[in-house]
Amino acid sequence: MLFIDYELNPKPTTHVQTQTPHPRHPAVPPPPLPEVTTFMQEIWDRKWLTNSGAFHKELEAQLARYLDVPYVALCANGILDLVIALQVLRVTGEVITTPFSFVATSHALWWNNIRPVFVDIEPESCNLDPEKVESAITPKTTGILSVHVYGHPCKVDRIQEITDIYGLHLIYEGAFPFSRLKKVYLLVEKA
Ligand SMILES: Cc1ncc(COP(=O)(O)O)c(C=O)c1O
Repeated sequence: MLFIDYELNPKPTTHVQTQTPHPRHPAVPPPPLPEVTTFMQEIWDRKWLTNSGAFHKELEAQLARYLDVPYVALCANGILDLVIALQVLRVTGEVITTPFSFVATSHALWWNNIRPVFVDIEPESCNLDPEKVESAITPKTTGILSVHVYGHPCKVDRIQEITDIYGLHLIYEGAFPFSRLKKVYLLVEKA
C-alpha cells in the first residue's frame, strides 16, 4: 500500500517544493505523481469510487496492524473524526481542552453542544499543562480533549491519572503526530 510504505520509508522525489522547510520540522515531500495515478487507475477499473472501497479497507487493516489496535476507522477529514469520537462517547457538558491547536479541536466540541474550557499550555511543549487542569474541573466537566501539538506528545501519564481520579472521558487528538509517534496515535484512549 502506497501510503504506509511512503510514510515509513520516504524516498527522494523530483517534486519541487514551494514552501521553505521549517528547520525543526522539514516537510516530507509528496510521492511522485505516477505512484498516485497508478492507484487511481485501479480505482477507476473497479468502478467503485465511494465508501468502503478495496483500498479503503486495506488501509484500515494495515493501519490497525501498524498501530497495534483492534480497529481503525478512516474519516473524510480531521474534524469529522473528533466529532464522531465525541458522539460515540456521548460526551456532553464541558470538556477541558487546549487553546493552542487548529480551530477544529474546539469546533468539534462546539458542534456537539459541548462547552470548551480552555486551560493554559506549557511554554516548552505548547501542550495542555496538566498541572492546570484540575482547577478547571467543574461538576459539568465530562472529559479532557488533549492535542499532541506539532507531534510532541502531551503528558499522557499525568493526564490519564487526572481522568481516572475524576472519571472523565479522555480523547487525544493525533492530527499532528500521525506516523511519527506510534505510542500516541489513539484518538480515543478511554471509553
Ligand atoms: C490539530 C488539527 N486538528 C484537526 C484538524 C482538522 O483537519 P481537517 O482540516 O482535515 O478537518 C487540523 C487541520 O489542520 C489540525 O491541524
